[in-house]
Amino acid sequence: MKNKQARINGILSGFNRKEFQHDLINWFKQEQRTLPWRDNQDPYRVWVSEIMLQQTKVDTVIPYFQRFIEKFPTPERLAEADEQEVLKAWEGLGYYSRARNLQNAIREVVSDYGGKVPDEADELGSLKGVGPYTKGAILSIAYDKPEPAVDGNVMRVMSRILYLEDDIAKQGTKKLFESLIREVISTEDPSSFNQGLMELGALVCTPKSPSCMLCPVQDHCRAFHEGVEQELPIKTKTKKQKRVPYAAMIVINDQGEVLIQQRPADGLLANLWEFPMVPLADIDRSHLVHWFYGEYGINIKPGGSLDKIKHVFSHLIWELEVIPGAIEAGELDHPRARFVSLEELESYPFPVSHQKIAKHVH
Ligand code: ADE
Repeated sequence: MKNKQARINGILSGFNRKEFQHDLINWFKQEQRTLPWRDNQDPYRVWVSEIMLQQTKVDTVIPYFQRFIEKFPTPERLAEADEQEVLKAWEGLGYYSRARNLQNAIREVVSDYGGKVPDEADELGSLKGVGPYTKGAILSIAYDKPEPAVDGNVMRVMSRILYLEDDIAKQGTKKLFESLIREVISTEDPSSFNQGLMELGALVCTPKSPSCMLCPVQDHCRAFHEGVEQELPIKTKTKKQKRVPYAAMIVINDQGEVLIQQRPADGLLANLWEFPMVPLADIDRSHLVHWFYGEYGINIKPGGSLDKIKHVFSHLIWELEVIPGAIEAGELDHPRARFVSLEELESYPFPVSHQKIAKHVH
């Protein structure tokens, strides 16, 4: 503990916190983008936006945020919605556990906190899906509390400003940055300070070729003074995703309805819907008919491949071969599968890869 504080003191010696705050906040106030979640400080809106903005770009988030807030304008409305409706509103954004956790946490806010988002760090941090980043973002942006909100962008910016060579892919590094931000954050305007760091990372202090000539805190930036801004941050490579080939089946009955199924309640894409699919490592292509009959109780005659769809997740890559199956005989017997009309298909939440399959159904 003592060592850690000594290191922090060392890092911050000679760093002009007051001027840094002043330059950053002034720039943010003048240059910030007009974004829908900046209309007001409603903690519910801040929360929704910060969850959506994790792993997703601002331009992608904007229309989703607007539609989501229109559909679920208050914590009460989100709490009482069907999970399927929430997943449908999230369709295409990815990382769907964010949506499920958000709704669970909001239900707790409504039942235990009278619908008011807690402004106390421990209460807020105990809610589902609210980690240190989200907690700090809500407390600072909605409640003006001087709490750090450190994500990858903030680590990149601060690595350069303070010339820190810690590996930002390592767990402990985030803790170091949180401690540093606690020391340098403005207590007068923590909201503009944190949002200023995020905005700087998005507009100026970008991963590749940062625009140092336009930087409002260039004077404070040690990496710029040493000419090493492009070398920072240090980030070790995460391991390559594993490729997994699948056969994905389009099976339509004589009423023109298509076979879909709900994914399990846990794991990847939990509770979303999909076309029947099987890893080609588990079965040989020539055994597709047997597998399908065993799984669904229907005999099919597979046709030729319609498409190959690739979808990249953080840890794996799906390679979906889209194969039509004409029904020969049998009765559907599967607990999570059903035939739905093409109109009904639209109301089910699908992962993006399976929305692409749905295009071949029409
Ligand atoms: N990235 C994460 N949070 C953000 C915010 N509030 N505004 C802009 N970009 C962000």
